[in-house]
Amino acid sequence: MNHRSRFSQRPLGQPTRGKTARNRLRRVDNCLLLYDRALISRRDGPYDHACYVDLGYGAEPITTLESADRLRRANSVLPVLGVEIDPERVENALPFADELTHFRVGGFNLPLEAGETVRIIRALNVLRQYEEHQVVESWQTMGRYLLPGGLLVEGTSDPFGRIMVLNLLRRAESHLVYEGLLFSTNFRWGFEPGIFQPVLPKNCIHRMIPGEMIFDFVEAWKRAARETIAYKNWGLRQWFAASAETLARDGYSVVTRRRLLRQGYLLWKDSPGDSILSL
Ligand SMILES: C[S@@+](CC[C@H](N)C(=O)[O-])C[C@H]1O[C@@H](n2cnc3c(N)ncnc32)[C@H](O)[C@@H]1O
Repeated sequence: MNHRSRFSQRPLGQPTRGKTARNRLRRVDNCLLLYDRALISRRDGPYDHACYVDLGYGAEPITTLESADRLRRANSVLPVLGVEIDPERVENALPFADELTHFRVGGFNLPLEAGETVRIIRALNVLRQYEEHQVVESWQTMGRYLLPGGLLVEGTSDPFGRIMVLNLLRRAESHLVYEGLLFSTNFRWGFEPGIFQPVLPKNCIHRMIPGEMIFDFVEAWKRAARETIAYKNWGLRQWFAASAETLARDGYSVVTRRRLLRQGYLLWKDSPGDSILSL
């Protein structure tokens, strides 16, 4: 497939550092498989060949190829499209393309071919290098390509993928609905809600100030963690889960599905910004 000439539109966005790492985004894949496996596996109507897009995969296409392997456990014919704004990174990736896995130059305006549809877009460690005011606009641009019911996953991780915080946005008919802010840890760095601060996504990182929803939420979580510290004796996972249950008891809209909490995923369902975005 010629990855350059077919797409005449100028890619929206800007080239940024391409740092990535093996297994860095494993927890995003695992979370998707737990949280919404049906979205990966569904094949009804326009979902039949709907692809999974990894936008901004970096200097090497490792995370895209790893996700293709993992997600095809739920859907063995899942098409995967890696999109990069840097043409050299696409050249590097092309030897790894096959009939289900493609790499193309593009930006937030996805380089789709006629008839192609999209079920999930993942943009990890991309927007942190942009300005805060560009975030919502880029969500809206990407969101227009999703099928109704499709999901945009955008956020930031540490270099190893041990901790990360992700925005989840779901496509409705003519708008994007904010589904929640997902905190993820594999507990390798212990547990304390403050560990997530360095990996807050761009829409939150500059808002850790009193009066902002994200600040108030993290403070409430810190209080909940102090209140439940006795659970630490049974392990960090139990402590993490107990702190989430305390938040829920105190009226915070957090998902308390045991399987998510045990795996170190806390989904806060309020929106730190607008909860409905027009497309
Ligand atoms: C830090 S790397 C992230 C790599 C990988 N996603 C990860 O998390 O390990 C960011 C990549 O996003 C690319 N990028 C930035 N803006 C983009 C855009 N609008 N469209 C496509 N790629 C973009 C950059 O060229 C860079 O290679």
